[in-house]
Amino acid sequence: MNQIVRPLAKKIKVAIVGIGNCASSLIQGIHYYKDKDSSQSIGLMHWDVGGYKPEDIEVVAAFDTDARKVGKDVSEAMFSEPNCTQVFCADIPALGVPVRMGRILDGFSEHMKEYAQNHSFVLSDAVEPGQEEIVGALRESGAEILLNYLPVGSEKATRFYAECALEAGLGFINNIPVFIASGSEWPERFKAKNLPLIGDDIKSQLGATITHRTLTDLFKKRGVKLENTYQLNTGGNTDFLNMINRRRLASKKISKTEAVQSVAAKRLNPDNIHIGPSDYVPWQKDNKICFIRMEGKLFGDVPMHLEMRLSVEDSPNSAGVAIDTIRCAKLALDRGQGGVLIPPSAYFCKHPPEQYSDDEAYNMTEAFINGSWGKNRKVVKVDGEDEVEMVLKPVAKSRFNSKNS
Ligand SMILES: NC(=O)c1ccc[n+]([C@@H]2O[C@H](COP(=O)([O-])OP(=O)(O)OC[C@H]3O[C@@H](n4cnc5c(N)ncnc54)[C@H](O)[C@@H]3O)[C@@H](O)[C@H]2O)c1
Repeated sequence: MNQIVRPLAKKIKVAIVGIGNCASSLIQGIHYYKDKDSSQSIGLMHWDVGGYKPEDIEVVAAFDTDARKVGKDVSEAMFSEPNCTQVFCADIPALGVPVRMGRILDGFSEHMKEYAQNHSFVLSDAVEPGQEEIVGALRESGAEILLNYLPVGSEKATRFYAECALEAGLGFINNIPVFIASGSEWPERFKAKNLPLIGDDIKSQLGATITHRTLTDLFKKRGVKLENTYQLNTGGNTDFLNMINRRRLASKKISKTEAVQSVAAKRLNPDNIHIGPSDYVPWQKDNKICFIRMEGKLFGDVPMHLEMRLSVEDSPNSAGVAIDTIRCAKLALDRGQGGVLIPPSAYFCKHPPEQYSDDEAYNMTEAFINGSWGKNRKVVKVDGEDEVEMVLKPVAKSRFNSKNS
C-alpha cells in the first residue's frame, strides 16, 4: 500500500487560506531554517521528514479577505495589520504570490467592527470569487496541499474551501476546530479521491493542550484521582478577539476539552472540567498565557492540587507543528495514500478522528514517517474482489469519533 505512485518532487507546493499570525509564523519558519543544517535545527521536531526539509515547502497560492492583505504579495501581507506575532525572520523575499480575495461566508464576525482596526479584521471590498474561480486558481498554482487557517467558527467557509481542495485535487490540512477529518462525510470523500486529509485543530508544539494532556496522563499513571480541572487562556491576537463571540466557540470547546478528557483515567463530569479561551487582553498580542489547575486525591484520599502558568508566543508554537503536518501530507501524496492520515492527525491535532495517548501517537507518527506504519495490518479482500483494504490494528481504542461535520 505504501508504494510510490508519484515521482518524488523536491518542493512541497502549498496554498494557504488565511494569512494571519499562524501563516506568518509558518512562512517565517520556512525561511528561517533555509540557511541552517540539522545541527542547528533547534525548535523543530524533525529536521528531515522522509527526505523533506523545512525549506522544501513553498507557498504558491494564498487567500484572505482583509483589505490590508488582499492584492499584496504574501511576503508583505504576512506582516500587515492586524497580524501581531513576534517577527523572528523579517527578511522574506517577494514570493511572486499575490494574496487573492477569498470567499467570506462566516469567516467574519460582526463584533470585530466594534474594535480598533489595528486589532480587528477589515473586510476587503474586492469582488468575492466563486468556487470555480478558486478551484481554477488552485489548479493553476500547482498547489498540492491546502492549509486552512480560518478564524474559529468558520464552519461554512471551512467546508467551502475543503470542497475547493477536493475539486482541485489537493490534500487538506485542517488547522481549526471545524470537524472535517473527524467528521462523518469528508474522510470518505478525500479517500475516494485518494487525497490526504489531516485534522482537526492543530495542537501546538508545547502549548496548553499537550501540557494539560501530559499532566492528566501523569495523574493517571501515578494513580492520582483527578477530580476538578480548568485551563484558562488569555491572549491579545485576532484569534482571541474572534473568540470573544461565544457563539463561534462550540467546536473549539469540544475540541480542547476532548483532547484532555480522552487521556484521563476516567472521564470527568462536564461540571468538573472547564477548558477554553477565557479573555482577550489586547496588549498581550500573540503572547498566550495559560493557567492550569488540577485538583486530585493521592494515597489515602488525601487531597492535592497543582497550579501551572504557561507563557508562549501562540503562532510560532503552532507553526512548529504545521511544518511537520505538511511534510506528512506530502509523504502520503508520494505514496499514493488518501483519506485521513490517522497517525499525524492523532499526534498533531487536538480533535483527530481517533484519540491516542501522546506516546502512542508519537510512535505511530514516527512509523508513518519511516514507512513502517501499516505493515502489521491485516490485508483483506473486499466483496471477494481483488481489491485489498488495510485493516487497522488498534494501538489503542478510539475514544471519540465525532459525527459532527
Ligand atoms: N497556536 C495557535 O496559534 C493555534 C492552535 C490551534 C488552532 N489555531 C487556529 O488557527 C486559526 C488561525 O489562527 P491565526 O492566529 O492565524 O488567526 P488570525 O486571526 O491571525 O488569521 C485568520 C486569517 O483568516 C482571514 N480570513 C477570515 N475569513 C476568511 C475567509 N473567509 N477566507 C479567507 N481568509 C479569511 C483573516 O483575514 C485573517 O488574516 C484559528 O482558527 C486558530 O484558532 C491556532
